[in-house]
Amino acid sequence: MTKPYEPTIHQRSLDRDCTTLSRHVLQQLKSFGPNAQDLSALMNRLALAGKLIARRLSRAGIVEGVLGFTGDENVQGETVKKMDVYANDVFISVFKQSGLVCRLASEEMETPYYIPENCPIGRYTLLYDPIDGSSNIDTNLNVGSIFAIRQQEGNDETGEALDLLQNGRKQLAAGYILYGPSTVLVYSLGNGVHAFTLDPSLGEFILWQENITVPEHGPVYSTNEGNFWQWEDSYRDYIRYVHRHEGYTGRYSGALVGDFHRILLQGGVFLYPGTRKKPEGKLRLLYETAPLGFLMEQAGGRASTGSENILDVVPDKLHQRTPFVVGSSEDVELVESFVQERAREARDTAPV
Ligand code: AHG
Ligand code: MN
Ligand code: MN
Repeated sequence: MTKPYEPTIHQRSLDRDCTTLSRHVLQQLKSFGPNAQDLSALMNRLALAGKLIARRLSRAGIVEGVLGFTGDENVQGETVKKMDVYANDVFISVFKQSGLVCRLASEEMETPYYIPENCPIGRYTLLYDPIDGSSNIDTNLNVGSIFAIRQQEGNDETGEALDLLQNGRKQLAAGYILYGPSTVLVYSLGNGVHAFTLDPSLGEFILWQENITVPEHGPVYSTNEGNFWQWEDSYRDYIRYVHRHEGYTGRYSGALVGDFHRILLQGGVFLYPGTRKKPEGKLRLLYETAPLGFLMEQAGGRASTGSENILDVVPDKLHQRTPFVVGSSEDVELVESFVQERAREARDTAPV
């Protein structure tokens, strides 16, 4: 009788290299059924988008038409980078002929884009920020892409995508791709936060860390202190606090995804409060603060507008902005305590 084959010492390293994103999704869902296969295929397409964008960024200085501005302004009233447009189109292209995603809502598009051939069967909507931290592109600093997946509700006959105007707890999945020294994809299906690193030699995202949990407290506070003059007093109170206490360190890259990733791994808090110019905040709910809030909550942290859990905010328009405080639970709660204190004072001194 021949001896059954015994896995060799290579099995561990092979298993690791074979724990690709699409396999991990199926493991997460504990199913090989059609819905699980769809989500696995969808995540795989997002991975392809990440690879295409990483490839173009890696040649930015030597390939025509990558750096610099298009000369246009987007629906946000912001100048558009050539990479914003390229990346926006990448996410559309990877879902063509997929039968998966019918609708894409992007920071760069005033209204959602529909992929007609998918719509009769595709029930997923992709909400995304194709390049986050665009101001970093021309100086070769880290940028990212942020995504959320929602299930389309109803047939959206009017094309206004009103079913997207629901809170962040409607997200089926969320994640980001960080284009740094390595390209890292971080995602959650609501069952923990998991990170993959792109192995360019394989062209695959390989599992790097599973079930990432954010420290309850961390040293990092991440914010653009240049806006101090136009913040509400509560945020000024917080900054004065960290300036006067040992153990804090300021880190701000100008790209939310990079700052968020550092805090996810090391602990601390990122805050982008409302300002005089943008009282509702700069960051956009549906494809920046809600996906990242989903991830941080899955990692055991906290995400709010400073006073309301970010996942409870119901947008009244597609590109709604919110103030954003996200990170370690203790640090977010400290920021919120300053907001609550000022609100209490305002109530106590309000004319009766
Ligand atoms: P985007 O490039 O998608 O517009 O996002 C930029 C955002 C965010 O990534 C970053 O944290 C923030 O804008 C930086 O804003 P300031 O330059 O005002 O600090
Ligand atoms: Mn952004
Ligand atoms: Mn962007």
